[in-house]
Amino acid sequence: MSLQWHEFSTKEALDQQLATTIANELKQAIAQRGSAGLAVSGGRTPAGMFKALRASDLDWSRVVITLVDERWVQPDHADSNERLTRDKLLQDGAAAATFISLVNLAATPHEAQPEIEARLAALPNPIDVVILGMGDDGHTASLFPNAAELEAACASTALLAAVTPPAAPHQRITLTLPTIVKSPKVIVHITGEGKKTLLQNAMAANVAVNEQYPIRRVLDQVALADVFWAA
Ligand code: 6PG
Repeated sequence: MSLQWHEFSTKEALDQQLATTIANELKQAIAQRGSAGLAVSGGRTPAGMFKALRASDLDWSRVVITLVDERWVQPDHADSNERLTRDKLLQDGAAAATFISLVNLAATPHEAQPEIEARLAALPNPIDVVILGMGDDGHTASLFPNAAELEAACASTALLAAVTPPAAPHQRITLTLPTIVKSPKVIVHITGEGKKTLLQNAMAANVAVNEQYPIRRVLDQVALADVFWAA
């Protein structure tokens, strides 16, 4: 594992450069294979990048987009990552992309998993570009420290896992660790001094795998990951 850090003096500069990087990867995948797959994270960090990315000049009709993880709420809920993605990314040219939702009307993500995995057959595999966020507890995607399902989600051969975060709200559905690390382009998108220090500490610590922050467990299995950071 090695990390390539890209640091920016403003979030706007980061958003622009990250959007350009993602768009170039998608264009390359389309040129090589005729289509491209992109998995994006939700939360507060990506909105500005989504706005920059949707203005990119590429053949969006050949791009399939899904989420790295979703909270178990319907898409009209304020906490829905799908809602954020539809509002901020799937606009302008990017409205022509195919979006694969990670929720259905089932009561729990456990029940929903088979149907949602079947939908993901339309997503290029491996996923060309995966954008990860990171929480203050070192979680990434919905691989939460101390979640009962963490070990299974890190080892599963399935595309998805259902996870109950011990502290954060809502049950989750998430790409499993093996699904994420299969991608040739894994990018971590974080802002703020606290997250920079946390990621540096997580990567430096010499501890057993089950004591590591989930972000470390993921990045340990990626040959080269990019980190996009701004204060
Ligand atoms: C989610 C995410 C999650 C997110 C981090 C960081 O649904 O919560 O996809 O993994 O990336 O929690 O979130 P912020 O960007 O809000 O800090």
